[in-house]
Amino acid sequence: QAPLRVGVAGLGNVGATLVRILQKDSAELTRKLGRQLEVVAVAARSRSRDRGIDISGLEWFDDPVALAKSDGIDLFVELIGGEDGPAFASVKAALEIGRPVVTANKALLAKHGVTLARLAEESGAQLGFEAAVAGGIPVIKTLREGLGTARIAKVFGIMNGTCNYILTRMGNEDISFADCLKDAQALGYAEADPTFDVEGFDTAHKLSILSTLCFGYEIAPDKMRVEGISNITQHDIQVATELGYKIKLLGIAERTESGIEQRVHPTFVPKGSAIAGVDGVMNAVALETDHVHELLLAGPGAGGPPTASSVLSDILDIARGTRVPPLGVPSDELLPYREAPYRAH
Ligand code: HSE
Repeated sequence: QAPLRVGVAGLGNVGATLVRILQKDSAELTRKLGRQLEVVAVAARSRSRDRGIDISGLEWFDDPVALAKSDGIDLFVELIGGEDGPAFASVKAALEIGRPVVTANKALLAKHGVTLARLAEESGAQLGFEAAVAGGIPVIKTLREGLGTARIAKVFGIMNGTCNYILTRMGNEDISFADCLKDAQALGYAEADPTFDVEGFDTAHKLSILSTLCFGYEIAPDKMRVEGISNITQHDIQVATELGYKIKLLGIAERTESGIEQRVHPTFVPKGSAIAGVDGVMNAVALETDHVHELLLAGPGAGGPPTASSVLSDILDIARGTRVPPLGVPSDELLPYREAPYRAH
């Protein structure tokens, strides 16, 4: 079988880690798949930046759209980030010609997910996005393949590693919000613009992707009540501790009698509960269904290696020819939004 030739656009933390894994584990991947899988081309802003990887043998593109459309690749990986601009243009260009795409870009999917899903359906291309929600946790796979006919009543969880890292450290040591954020950035957890993390928008993007999968209606993060953690102080955390709680930034979407309710806000969770035990950069997604009472998936939520592994799992599925249904084309179950009240979880 001919090798599967991969083109990667965006060589930040996740992109560089993915290229490193594809190069380092090439023999093992080939053995596993029975087919060679190789990264052959990359696109990024700077050619000369030291990323700790050898890109000398790879074809270089300045323009990610040109890479997406290049005849030299079979699969396009978008790790540029951003909801519009080159990320949207390149993913669209690849899907339009029926080329499979893997992306970790939650902002892009939250804004254009339905358009891209329709495009993928029309052209028969695959669109993998496991890495877009909760980093290394296979939550999309679970939702798509793991629940049988169970009807989801509620999905909630910790979906931003940066915020959970900050809240955990502030709960354990006398350290300021600003210092924790600096460390989260140095560890490669935060977004290029960390406002997305700490003001809750990144969680809102991820929650809207999950809502679309769980409830089958069009993604709309702008319809959500969103509050982040930038106003949380050591005092708030102390008060929570004294009352027997921890503060976690939760994204919550649930079916109610009057529609789907979605919200993102810092929440008191009882110490001793499963979600309260999820600390540091870990994320957790809880699903409540009519068949299984509650399922909690926990694991690393951010950082190069876990996110790159989720990208790789999508690449492997596509290389094996596994057909995954595209995201979020609204179903008949469409329910109205309602303005979510601010209340405890
Ligand atoms: N900045 C994100 C986070 C990265 O901290 O969770 C993973 O999406």
